Amino acid sequence: MAPIVFLLTFYLLVPFFFGQNQSFGFPSGSDERSSVFSRGEPLKKQSFRAKRDVGSQSAGTEASLCISEVSAEELKKLKQHTHPFDFEDDDGSTITLAWVGDGNGVILALTTFEMPFHWLFKAGSSRLYRSEDYGKTFSDISDRINKNFIRREFGINVGPENSQRVILTADVSWLSDKGKIYTSSDAGKNFQSTDLPFQPAVRMSFQPTHPDHLLAHSLGDALWLSLDFGKTWTKVHESVHSFIWGSENTFFFTAHLNNSDTGMLVLKRTMDLGKTTEVIAKDVYAFGFSGRFLFASIIKTQGAPRRVFVSLDQGNSWSEAQLPPVTHEQFYSILAADDDMIFMHVDEQGDAGFGTIYISDDRGVLYSESLNHHLFGASNGANDFTNVTSLRGVYITNVIRKDGSVQSVITFDRGGKWKPLKTPENSHCASSGKPGEMCNLHIHGDYSISQHINVPMPPLTASSAIGLIITHGSVGNAISSLTPDVYISDDGGYTWMKTLSGPHHYAILDSGGLIVAVEYYTDQAIQTLKFSTDEGQCWKLYNFTENPIIFAGLASEPGTKSMNISIWGYRPKQGYSAVWISVTIDFEELLTRVCDENDYITWLAHSTGAENEMDGCILGYKEKFRRLKKSSVCRNGRDYIVSKDQKPCLCTKDDYFCDFGYYRKENSSDCIEEADLKGHDLEYCLNGNEELLKTKGYRKAPGNKCEGGFEAERIEEVKARCEKLRASTDSKPNRTAVIAISILIVAAALMTGVALILKKYVCGGRALVYRYSALQPKDDDPCLADELDSQADNTRQVYHDDSDEDLIE
Ligand SMILES: *[C@@H]1O[C@H](CO)[C@@H](O)[C@H](O)[C@H]1NC(C)=O
Ligand SMILES: *[C@@H]1O[C@H](CO)[C@@H](O)[C@H](O)[C@H]1NC(C)=O
Ligand SMILES: *[C@@H]1O[C@H](CO)[C@@H](O)[C@H](O)[C@H]1NC(C)=O
Ligand SMILES: *[C@@H]1O[C@H](CO)[C@@H](O)[C@H](O)[C@H]1NC(C)=O
Ligand SMILES: *[C@@H]1O[C@H](CO)[C@@H](O)[C@H](O)[C@H]1NC(C)=O
Ligand SMILES: *[C@@H]1O[C@H](CO)[C@@H](O)[C@H](O)[C@H]1NC(C)=O
Repeated sequence: MAPIVFLLTFYLLVPFFFGQNQSFGFPSGSDERSSVFSRGEPLKKQSFRAKRDVGSQSAGTEASLCISEVSAEELKKLKQHTHPFDFEDDDGSTITLAWVGDGNGVILALTTFEMPFHWLFKAGSSRLYRSEDYGKTFSDISDRINKNFIRREFGINVGPENSQRVILTADVSWLSDKGKIYTSSDAGKNFQSTDLPFQPAVRMSFQPTHPDHLLAHSLGDALWLSLDFGKTWTKVHESVHSFIWGSENTFFFTAHLNNSDTGMLVLKRTMDLGKTTEVIAKDVYAFGFSGRFLFASIIKTQGAPRRVFVSLDQGNSWSEAQLPPVTHEQFYSILAADDDMIFMHVDEQGDAGFGTIYISDDRGVLYSESLNHHLFGASNGANDFTNVTSLRGVYITNVIRKDGSVQSVITFDRGGKWKPLKTPENSHCASSGKPGEMCNLHIHGDYSISQHINVPMPPLTASSAIGLIITHGSVGNAISSLTPDVYISDDGGYTWMKTLSGPHHYAILDSGGLIVAVEYYTDQAIQTLKFSTDEGQCWKLYNFTENPIIFAGLASEPGTKSMNISIWGYRPKQGYSAVWISVTIDFEELLTRVCDENDYITWLAHSTGAENEMDGCILGYKEKFRRLKKSSVCRNGRDYIVSKDQKPCLCTKDDYFCDFGYYRKENSSDCIEEADLKGHDLEYCLNGNEELLKTKGYRKAPGNKCEGGFEAERIEEVKARCEKLRASTDSKPNRTAVIAISILIVAAALMTGVALILKKYVCGGRALVYRYSALQPKDDDPCLADELDSQADNTRQVYHDDSDEDLIE
């Protein structure tokens, strides 16, 4: 789905504003479409672990970068199309921006001033502004919300694509225990106020395809539903913990049982907008709905490890995901999921700060180990896992080594193989001559940002800007927090180039035809914008104002189609106050020529330059894109669409994962049967059926479209029913039920038998923990890990209390 909402919160620090502990971001709905910029957070340096800076200080600084002032002619054109706007007389200490509608240039800006003197209740005032010209001018429309105090933490809640719907939540908590909202169905032209029968606790949640349907969670944990865009509300359920929309009239929620002392939840579903609800799982710890997959992590008995169950039919039937179970202080986190598969992070025992990434099959049931030692902030859930949306199959993340150093790895085949990033062409490492010393690019993602390192933004990619990745990073043996520079790749991460020195804010415009950047300082006002029309090879400098501003953030319409960029910031005024400024630059007059056929070239993605049939084949097919030449200075325009040409490839062993009970030796494509499992049937429970797996060791990677070539026979035979999870509320015993139950008992008996065999063969009598196949030979002996598991079990205090809330996307 094209990004349509863009929420930015800029924080202005005025000296009497004591709230350094404001929550940056929103309690719910802070998705990739929203970004939150902040000023005024103190910089904590060097909170990474020791040793991370070894051998990386002197890297790259000598690179000669291509940067020049704009020409006189360009300067004249840009000056004519630079539009500063001052928010005079506005006392707001924070500003929130949202793009409303799609491609019409309407922005709402909300400033909020909070009275600093009230501990017991919040009070303040808000102003609302609206722009219809991509931020060049704003008009004050505060009277449409009666200048009411809007709750900043709920932000500007914008409905799904093209719906033009907006909700603002007023803070009237000092007046009554009921809430008040302002709603608009015409992109903020008109607002209507509605008194709510409850006080909302989080932002309201839009049904993605029916924007009149809203769900709200109230203080006091009731779930409320509106079918007329907030005008009237009905209570759906009490004691609700969390909720999520499914498709159409379906939504899911977890609720507390009234006499529950285990703290476990029931997962309920309604398929008729709340008229009837049914229990679809019990003993639920957390749940999530992502892609096609409904997940629940379940604790059968108190103190027992959690297990993940997956449903592909919205909760009618469940299968146990073949993942290691986790104890109370560990957690699961879904890093990414789409219709094909899931990237699942499973936390390591203890407060390790890392875990293992598993990649699923197309049903979310079988998993392969993909990456060990995956860095994952234990306390805040921050990690550097990045979906490179500009090239299919590419993901980047960071691993933590035994010595505490952090290194970046990239995969080009959706988690099949990971490797270090290449050294940028224009950087070199000072070699200390130590053996084994490496020189690679390492990238800074959300984890670095959470550590308050001098990195203002995570990596940036866009599906419309094919192959482009812009990121902060450093070159050396491991990541260095000392001087993050900006690196760029134009081929989806195969090769890199250093493009700017020092940290920057950056944005992609005109579908990649234009990149802009602003140098990031914590203590200095700025006046210069940098831009590049050749994917970061050369930059031009443009001073957009005579009077420098303290920078807050860059804002451009989501979707990268725009050529208007707004620089937001403020200038201090006398006293303790400051004035918000936005400067919008329209590049349309600089790039006047519309690109024609000669400006584009054909580019084979994932090509290694090998002149053979298989060059560019990833996940069973290859793609040729039409891309703008670097030397072309022209505009793609609003109507530009990425054009590509797909061709299937012949299958090879590399298009397959190793199946259950098989593994690959290093540097080999063959799947080898684990010696302990030779000659034994493999059985598991899938959608309520006991399956017998007949495999030659190969399982096609999900979403792989290869044709012909290598084939491997694989049969899953239904043996018996083994459904265990479905908890139907109405269980009148009738004839079929009795049959089902007796089959269940048989299946249960069968299961024990299987478990015993596996136990015997896998771990010499101890409980089986790992039932997934390994992509590479494992670092750790699973049996050893198993022993550690049981020892560690009750010795740790509850730490990750609700950390697999992360399941909820
Ligand atoms: C702000 O947070 C810090 C720690 O994060 C804490 O020590 C401090 O007391 C907090 N200040 C306020 C005003 O809440
Ligand atoms: C929950 O409470 C209701 C009324 O308060 C009661 O009728 C019901 O039996 C209780 N349910 C359980 C499972 O205890
Ligand atoms: C990664 O991003 C691409 C492009 O937006 C998307 O199609 C794909 O589904 C994403 N992958 C996952 C696993 O979320
Ligand atoms: C632009 O601004 C920078 C400082 O921000 C200054 O050093 C430079 O001389 C300015 N360039 C022009 C052409 O005015
Ligand atoms: C830039 O803003 C102007 C309005 O000021 C608008 O007409 C134009 O379409 C915008 N350009 C792009 C590429 O979005
Ligand atoms: C695998 O290949 C790499 C690089 O080609 C080599 O360094 C390594 O020694 C090989 N490993 C084995 C077990 O052959």
